[in-house]
Order: sequence, then structure tokens, then C-alpha cells
Amino acid sequence: MNNLVRVTRDNDVAVITVDNPPVNALSPGVPQAIEAAIDEMNIDPAIKAAVIIGAGRTFIAGADIKEFGKMTSGATPRRTLLPFLLHIEDSVKPVVIAIHGTAFGGGLELAMAGHYRVASPTAQIGQPEVKLGIIPGAAGTQRLPRLVGVAKAVEMCAEGKPVSAPDAAALGLIDSLIDGDLLSGAVAFARGIADKPIPKTRERTTKLGTATDNAAVFAAARDAARKKQRGMKAPLAAIDAVEAATRMPFEEGCQAEQKLFTECLFSDQSKALIHVFFGEREVGKIPDVPKGTPVIAVNRVAVVGSGTMGGGIAMVFANAGIPVLLKDVDQAALDAGMGKIRKNYASSVQRGRFTQQFVDERLQSITPVLTYDLFSDADMVVEAVFEGMALKKSVFAELDRACKPGAILASNTSTLNIDEIAEATSRPEAVIGTHFFSPANVMRLLEIVRGKKSSKEVIATCMQLSKKLGKVGVLVGNCRGFVGNRMFGPYRREAQFLAEEGAEIEAVDRALVDFGNAMGPLATGDLAGLDVGWRIRKEYRHLEKPGIRQPFAEDRLCELGRYGQKTTKGWYRYDENRRANADPEVAALVRKWSAEAGIPQRQISAEEIVDRCIYALVNEGARILEEGFALRAVDIDIIYLNGYGFPAYRGGPMWHADTVGLQKVYQRICEFHQQHGELWAPAPLLQRLAESGKTFAEFDKEHALAA
Ligand code: 3HC
Ligand code: NAI
Repeated sequence: MNNLVRVTRDNDVAVITVDNPPVNALSPGVPQAIEAAIDEMNIDPAIKAAVIIGAGRTFIAGADIKEFGKMTSGATPRRTLLPFLLHIEDSVKPVVIAIHGTAFGGGLELAMAGHYRVASPTAQIGQPEVKLGIIPGAAGTQRLPRLVGVAKAVEMCAEGKPVSAPDAAALGLIDSLIDGDLLSGAVAFARGIADKPIPKTRERTTKLGTATDNAAVFAAARDAARKKQRGMKAPLAAIDAVEAATRMPFEEGCQAEQKLFTECLFSDQSKALIHVFFGEREVGKIPDVPKGTPVIAVNRVAVVGSGTMGGGIAMVFANAGIPVLLKDVDQAALDAGMGKIRKNYASSVQRGRFTQQFVDERLQSITPVLTYDLFSDADMVVEAVFEGMALKKSVFAELDRACKPGAILASNTSTLNIDEIAEATSRPEAVIGTHFFSPANVMRLLEIVRGKKSSKEVIATCMQLSKKLGKVGVLVGNCRGFVGNRMFGPYRREAQFLAEEGAEIEAVDRALVDFGNAMGPLATGDLAGLDVGWRIRKEYRHLEKPGIRQPFAEDRLCELGRYGQKTTKGWYRYDENRRANADPEVAALVRKWSAEAGIPQRQISAEEIVDRCIYALVNEGARILEEGFALRAVDIDIIYLNGYGFPAYRGGPMWHADTVGLQKVYQRICEFHQQHGELWAPAPLLQRLAESGKTFAEFDKEHALAA
């Protein structure tokens, strides 16, 4: 044995405990030690059966994802778990798998190679590999349909969503649910079956269905995957692999699965998604705010402003079980705010997302108020009033008077300077930006904006809180637009330029949607309201450098009252169902304005559209990184995936640039610089990395070492 696996005895049952924190992944050494333990049990006459269980908070959460990078880079040979799992299945004495926490990926595959599975009722069980751009690679696609049937196996392998232990029991995946102590329940279960014939999953065929029934299942699954997981290869590969289980004997099915698994593992999509997996965990690590920094208990919060954002933010806290005071200036505004919250919740009940009881309790926990009287109880306040420095300052001065010492004072501002807001209080260390994205109760991103004086406790609390709220918190610096919107500016600027240079409006959006983005940049403008940017541009016009090209189409559209979806007209025309239709009037107007401005018209390829928009993101991202407003390139990636609909399978804009090759990206940016002028000046960091043959990922690694 080794220190990753322990073997003990409970009289006639061997207990094999996997102890590989934090999640008992099947790292090198674990399979070998389990195999040795099984061999030992099989020759020990005093032992009748074995139980495999996980130490700590979970059963085996899968293969060790860190190993995949080593295999694809050639640092270690490609290993398969298949022979190890056959070894368990071929044990002459029964093996009972005891599951708590999560049995994911290789963990579930191991469980299915065992002869019986028992679980705590709270356990989660699944094949989430597609989320990493791969498919189950240790016969999961072959054993799962034999246990739960083809339709459910396809769903679990292609969508990657786990099932609860009680559901797994109903499906036939779990043989017994164990309330109370899992280990003693599993040992008792093992004793109960010790003398019975040993069932092997790979020999079962009764649930594999008929060719006709299966054809319909696979067709529907492929259709759904193409729609819901647009652009992703792994879900389709997972369906192919389950189909192989229905058409071939087990061994051949495993070979088919291996081939598909390997193709996926070596794909750019899988590398990108693995980058995202570790990135989502990396963003939580702040070099000068280490783990263990004291945090403030946030048990009650208050939100100021019950508009679009304030209402959504109140719901986010309520959903996490934190009672909220919601303040607005007058009863009418408050009623309107609460009305929207109610409507929102009602539609969640209708769509089956929440139960009526859950919603009633959440609504009870939101208290509408018109004064700051009760604010002295709040551990944290989030301000979401209109965007204007004078108003924000007056609200923060009020908060300074009303709130208890130690309370966190956060602003949801999207453009204003957090330090200037903090100056309105006597406690700038308590002030921080919490930039939620619209709709706040849906979008996962939370940019946490660090002011010059924000205290470490306040930062640590907000980072920790983001998890509790179901958000991905990313710490950013205090610059105009912070990270996400600062990059979005050049991205949308290029989209407009392209339209002004002759690209069709729909062609601009289509190119970016085909690239994988959730929405095109011009349609996004219509959704958010073109007037928002127009107002901001008017305010900051005096800061624009003369002689530098600025886009004009959206300003002109706004002058005509075309603000986007809210006025039913923007870049597109919208019908009563908010469906976008191309509007020939806009196309003609843009052509006319461009002619007046003397902009030559030309055919523009989809490739140029994508390069112009995406490299504008990358170039600005590189500046932000160098200026230190983002801690790491991966932080920028996580922001774009969770707040801006960037396709996860491309890993985020910075990872995408690495994948294309920074030399190539830099060269293209230099071409744009020559053709379009100053706005395309390459970011110095990008130039340096490209010229030294490095990547943003390497930049991150070097900086992590330096920290
Ligand atoms: N391999 C390596 N490291 C893993 C891991 C894995 N399978 N799963 C989690 N970790 C690491 C995380 O990176 C994190 O490390 P850090 O503390 O250094 O940042 C640590 O374990 C804790 O993870 P979380 O912060 O995610 O902890 P949570 O308690 O929030 O969640 C979890 C636990 C639900 C198990 C979640 O980590 C998870 O979903 N893990 C991935 C599971 C997965 O995808 N399994 C399939 C792997 S692929 C596979 O099995 C292929 C097979 O078919 C051959
Ligand atoms: P909104 O106009 O929908 O709501 C603002 C609310 O604040 C109104 O209900 C108003 O009555 C209330 N209010 C004004 N002064 C107040 C005061 N002194 N006390 C209490 N309530 C007061 O505005 P929205 O869109 O919700 O924006 C709020 C903040 O969030 C702004 O700072 C904005 O920049 C930011 N933001 C907006 C996003 C969006 O997509 N709408 C996205 C991210 C941030």
C-alpha cells in the first residue's frame, strides 16, 4: 500500500479507504494501491468482501485533472484506467463501493466496476467530463447505459449534469441509500451480499434497448447538443461513445470510447476547458490577501436603490439565505422595484427553477424601506443608485452616518472611481466595488473592485461571499470600466467601425456568434441600450484625443431615438416578442453616413470581423494586465466567460490568443495599426511576449513565482 490508500479490517470485511486530499482524485499511485488491496483480500481466507470508501469530504471526484496536461504535453505517457477497473470487476470476492460527497468522472467509473454501490442520500453522482472538453475515458459510456438505460446515460454523459443519490437509486445506479454512518452501513451491506453470486456491470445487457428506440434517443440528443452546447465537440463524442455501447460488445465499445476520448483530450477545446477549470479556482487566490485572512460575518445586508440592478442584487442575497433591506427614495420606486422582484420570482416558479415555498420565504426576507433607520444592523451595504458621482457621494456620506463600524460599504458602479466614492466616508478601508452584471440574479460574474484603501478583510470577505452567492468573484483594479467593460469598449468600437466600412450589420453579429459568442456585439448594444454608451461618450467627449477616429453610427442612431430593444429600434427592428429583424433603413443610413464621412466601402470577410473584434479585446487585455488592473491573464479569461458570453471552449480571450499564437496575433494587430491608426497601437506586453516566443499563460506562471 502507500499513503494514498489505507486498508483496515472490520472482522470479515476489508475496508479500502482512498485518502488523497482534497478530493481523492485517482492520481498516480491510487489505482495501483487499490488493485494491490483487492489482490490481498482475494487471497485472505478471513475476508469475505471489500468496501471502497473515500476519506474526508468526498468519494473519488474523478481522474486527476492535472495529469491530463502532462499527458498532452508528452511529459508523461498516456495512461488508461481500463485494466485497473477490469481488475476490480473481476475480483473473486465482492466489492462494495460506498459513496459520499461526489462520485464524479473516474470516481463513478470505478464505482460501476464495483459489484454494488451504496451511498449517503446527499451524495452527487455524475460524468461531468464534457465540461472539461473530454468524455468518460474509463468505460463510463459503456457501463452507465448498462445500469441506467441508454437515454439517461446519454443525458448524463453528454450534458455532464450530476444526479442526486436518491435519483441514482431510482435509476438503478445505486443499490442502497444509507442514512447515518456510511461506513458501518456499507460494511453491513457487504456482509449481507458476501455469499451471493457476483454481478458484473459489463455483462448486463437488459437496459441497452432496441435499435429503433435508440435511434430516436441519439438523434434527439445530437440535436439538443448542437443547440445547447453550440460549438462543443465533446458532447457529440460522448453520444457517439454511448451509441457504441449499444452496437458493440463491451470490449469493442471500450476501444471506440478510448479513440474518442483521446481525440477529445488532445483537442484545443479540452485544453481550454481545463484551463477554465483551474482558472475558476485560481482567481480566488490573491497574493497579498492569503487564505486565513480574517473575514467579516455577513448575516444581514442592505441594498440602496431598487432599480434594475438593486432588485436583482437583493434577490441574489435572499437566494443565499441572507436577509436584505431594500431602500429607495419613494414608495412608488420601491413598489416598482418589489413588483419586478415578485414578477421575476413568479417566472422562476413557472419555469420550475424554484418552488413556491422557496420563493415565498425569499420574498419574506426582503424588507422594503424608505429610510436608513435599520441600516445599523447591516453587515454589508451594496449601493445601486443612478450612475452619478455627486449622488453616489451623498449616499455614501449617509451610509457612513447610518452604518455600524466594521460594516462593508460596497458600490455597484460600473464606471465611477471607487476611491473618489470612498472619500465621501470617514472609513475608506470599508469601501469596495462589487460590480454585478445584468441580470444580477442570473449572471455569474462579480467584479470586485479594489480601492486604494480597501482593507484586506473587506476584500477577503467579498471574495468568499461571492462563492456563497453562487458567483465567480474576480478581483480587479480601479480603472475606467474596470476590466470587463474597459475591454468591451474597443471590442464594440471595432464592430461599429466594421459596419461603417461596409460590413453588413447581421454579418458582423453572425461572425462573432459563429466564433462562439453568445450574442453579436451590435445586438448586445441593442439589448443593453445604445443610449447608455451615448450618454457616457457625451460626458467624456472632452477627453478624446483629436484626430483619432471615433465610431459614429450608434450616436447617430441614438439621435434618431433608436436606443435598441427598449425603443423597439436600434441596429435591428424588434417585434413584440423582442425578436430581432434586419432593418434595411439602418443599413441605408449607415451607408449614407459613411459616404458623408468619406469612409471607403469594401467587402469584409468573416475572418476579418472576428480578428478585429477579438484582437481588440486581447490588445486591451494585455494593457490591463501590464498596468496591474487584472492580477493574471486567466482572471481576464474568467471575466469574459462569465460576464460577456465568450465561449468557454476557447478558454477566454487571452487563452484564445495563446492558442492562435501570440506572434500571429501581434502581427495582425500591427497590420491593423498600419491600416487603422493609433487605436491599434500594439500593447507593449503583447509585443514583448510575442517577440520572446512566450504566452500569457507563461506570463501568469512567471508572475505567480515572483509573488
Ligand atoms: N483532479 C485534480 N484536482 C482536482 C480535481 C480533480 N479531479 N477536482 C478538484 N480538484 C482540486 C481543485 O483544483 C481544487 O484545488 P485548489 O484547492 O488547489 O484550488 C481542490 O481540488 C478543491 O476543489 P474545489 O475548490 O472545486 O472544491 P469544491 O468542494 O467546491 O468542489 C468538486 C469539489 C465538486 C469535486 C469539484 O472540485 C469538481 O467538480 N471537480 C471536478 C470533477 C471532475 O470533473 N471529475 C472528472 C475528472 S475527468 C475524469 O475523471 C476522466 C475519466 O473519465 C477518465
Ligand atoms: P436604475 O435606474 O434601474 O435604478 C436606480 C434606482 O436607484 C432607482 O430605483 C432610483 O429610484 C434609486 N435611487 C436613486 N437615488 C437613490 C437614493 N438616494 N436612495 C435610494 N435609492 C435611490 O439603475 P440601474 O441600472 O439599476 O443601475 C444602478 C447602478 O448599477 C449604477 O451605478 C449602474 O452604473 C450600475 N450598473 C448597471 C448595470 C446595468 O446593466 N443596468 C450593470 C452593472 C452596473
